Amino acid sequence: MRVALMILLGLVIGIIGTVNVMNVLSQRSPMPKAVMHTMGYHMGELAHAIKANQCDAAKIQHHLARLDSTATDITPVFGMDDKDFNDHARQLEDHLQQAVQAAPTTCAALAAVIKPVNESCKSCHQKYRDN
Ligand code: HEC
Repeated sequence: MRVALMILLGLVIGIIGTVNVMNVLSQRSPMPKAVMHTMGYHMGELAHAIKANQCDAAKIQHHLARLDSTATDITPVFGMDDKDFNDHARQLEDHLQQAVQAAPTTCAALAAVIKPVNESCKSCHQKYRDN
C-alpha cells in the first residue's frame, strides 16, 4: 500500500514537473506571438475599414505604417536560422513598403495594396505555422 502510494506520488510530481517545464518553454519569449498579434490587429482594422467602406486616409496610413515597422521585427524576434523563412519575412516587408508608399486614400486602392500583403502572411503560415 505504502509503495503504491509512493509510486502514485512520484507520478503526480512528474506530471506537475512536466506541465511546469512546458509552461516555462511557452513563456520563454512572448515576442514572436506578440509581433504576430500586433500585425493581426492592424490587418483586422484595415479589413474592417474595407468591409464598412470607411477608409479614412490618415487611419489607413497609420495601420500600414505600424504593419511595416512591426514586420521588420519578425526576423530578429523569431531568430530562425532558415533562409526561406527570412525570405518570407522580407517579401512581406517589401509589400508593406510598397503599400505605405502607395498611400491609398480609397477602399479600392487599399484593397489592391493589401492583397499581396495578405498573401505574404498566408504563404508563410502555410509553410511554418503548425495549425
Ligand atoms: C515569415 C513568416 C511569417 C509571416 C510573413 C507572417 N507570419 Fe504570422 N505567424 C508565423 C508563425 C511561425 C506563427 C506561429 C507562431 C507561434 O505559434 O509561436 C504565426 C502566427 C500568427 C498568428 C497567431 C499567433 C498565435 O498566438 O498563435 C497571427 C494572428 C499571425 N501570425 C498574423 C500574421 C499576419 C497578419 C501576417 C501578415 C501581415 C503574418 N502573420 C505574417 C509566421 C509568419
